Amino acid sequence: MNEQTTTQHRFQPLPDAGERGIFISLEGIEGCGKSTQSDLLSRFLSERRIPTIRTKEPGATAIGGEIRKILLHADHVGMSPICEALLYLADRAQHHDEVVSPALSTGTWVVCDRYHDSTLAYQGAARKVSHHDLNNIFMLATGGLQPDLTILLDLDVAIGLNRALTRNREQQNQMTEGRFEAEAEPFHQAVRQAFLRMAEEQPHRFIVVEAARTPEDIAEEIRGIVTHRFANFF
Ligand code: TYD
Repeated sequence: MNEQTTTQHRFQPLPDAGERGIFISLEGIEGCGKSTQSDLLSRFLSERRIPTIRTKEPGATAIGGEIRKILLHADHVGMSPICEALLYLADRAQHHDEVVSPALSTGTWVVCDRYHDSTLAYQGAARKVSHHDLNNIFMLATGGLQPDLTILLDLDVAIGLNRALTRNREQQNQMTEGRFEAEAEPFHQAVRQAFLRMAEEQPHRFIVVEAARTPEDIAEEIRGIVTHRFANFF
């Protein structure tokens, strides 16, 4: 089998919108509350009898779990930006084939904590890997599958980092997962600004939600956005 055939055969076209599930991603800097919000949103959808899975990147599959350990371990300070980018995209390829695409094809909605916009913000804007190259590998990994809606939880960097460090300390996983939280503030500022830029450039896909509020207030706003955007399902 030649290279072209392998790539072509990897991606069965998803059913038309309406038959396939809706793909929603949540993005934002460390400590912005994505996991709480993806949990609340997926529960809300399930309560409305919409078949939904909640998933995340990196590490939602068994193979991805191994990749996640390599990516986030605090000892791996010497990892090259390209190695890092390829590992996130490897995780995404496995996640796409094993979880995201099968769910969407059978009409299940997917609520995903981080997706390719994180790669463009962290590895692209902050680590300076070329966007063009990242997008080419993204095409290889997923066929270019983009979320129908991306919710950007925007938060001041100092507040987010403080929350993330406290959480890591409480869960005692600083050594096994602390590599990104250990980055200095300018790194996280670059990530935040990159997310805001992408949201401005793609207003049809992104919605920015102010994340310095109570989880319940944020969840209510997100429920409003989703029920309005996909009104025919509710
Ligand atoms: P995680 O513990 O899942 O953190 P969070 O709750 O903030 O999502 O760790 C994921 C880390 O990986 C986080 O620091 C962001 C980073 N990341 C990238 O750098 N690139 C990516 O493509 C993805 C998906 C995550």
